Amino acid sequence: MTVTKTFNNGIEKYTNIAFQYYMPRATICAIHHTVEGKSKMDDKIDNSISPSELESYFGEDYIYFGDVVNLPESSDRQAEVICDLLSIGQDSPVIELGCGYGRISNRLAEKGAQVTGLDISPILLKKAEADAAERGLNVEYVLGDMRSLPWRDRFDAAFLWYTTFGYFDDADNETVLREAASCLRTGGRLLIDHPNRIDFLSHKSPICYVAQRHNDVRIDIFSNDVLRDRSNLERIIVRDGCVRRTHLSFRQYGFSEYVRMLRGAGFQTVEAYGQEGEAFTSDSSRLVVVAYK
Ligand SMILES: C[S@@+](CC[C@H](N)C(=O)[O-])C[C@H]1O[C@@H](n2cnc3c(N)ncnc32)[C@H](O)[C@@H]1O
Repeated sequence: MTVTKTFNNGIEKYTNIAFQYYMPRATICAIHHTVEGKSKMDDKIDNSISPSELESYFGEDYIYFGDVVNLPESSDRQAEVICDLLSIGQDSPVIELGCGYGRISNRLAEKGAQVTGLDISPILLKKAEADAAERGLNVEYVLGDMRSLPWRDRFDAAFLWYTTFGYFDDADNETVLREAASCLRTGGRLLIDHPNRIDFLSHKSPICYVAQRHNDVRIDIFSNDVLRDRSNLERIIVRDGCVRRTHLSFRQYGFSEYVRMLRGAGFQTVEAYGQEGEAFTSDSSRLVVVAYK
């Protein structure tokens, strides 16, 4: 095993790990090589994520490793970038779709925004609420599915941060954008932060990341499904001597696809930024899309 890079947050990236023993499930399912050496897609296989897969992936283990992967100061910085790009001011009504355990929503509330956080995971929401209470913050946390939102024309800004878009098939992903547009007032802004597909696909797949907390480890193995433009993630948790496996898959859209989908959802203009709000280039690790209704 060769360590090629160490990240600042205690995460290490490994390549050349002994992958002959392990092949991510979705890759095996998705690509079939014919005798002529051509690849074809099996239409019967749907890589979008099921509710039970979401529940198992976004559970207590997700919280446990959260602060190791996103150090508090890094979360502070991310909240600042979101505020700047969405022009969030004092008392701005803002919604985070897929707010997780509230690491960004609570920070925005601390800056004075009127924050609503929506998530499908009751476990993560409970932690978000507990943290808000501990910090003396008033944040509205709502259990729900971003594909069907109960609000219309209510928010100045909405955002999906940290690879929270693309879990479903194209039709459902576009439903998320339409729902986001509907809950925004005219002139409202939507921000989506996602890995930059160009950069992501340039790395030889699979890629392995390891995060450690005390004696426990979280191993993420990413592989690219190049026929479906999806990235698949197999997560192995080794915690308290027990091993658990979960799985996530997300669609990798390029910027021109975002523009087409967002215009179709009712947005007027769409901008692209890199990770910290700088110019977006093929080398940017993230693509941050900001759309105006
Ligand atoms: C990668 S996490 C990001 C959490 C948070 N945005 C952050 O930056 O820490 C994605 C979140 O989306 C939530 N999620 C997934 N599918 C959802 C859905 N259909 N509706 C609402 N939330 C969903 C998950 O439960 C999880 O909390």
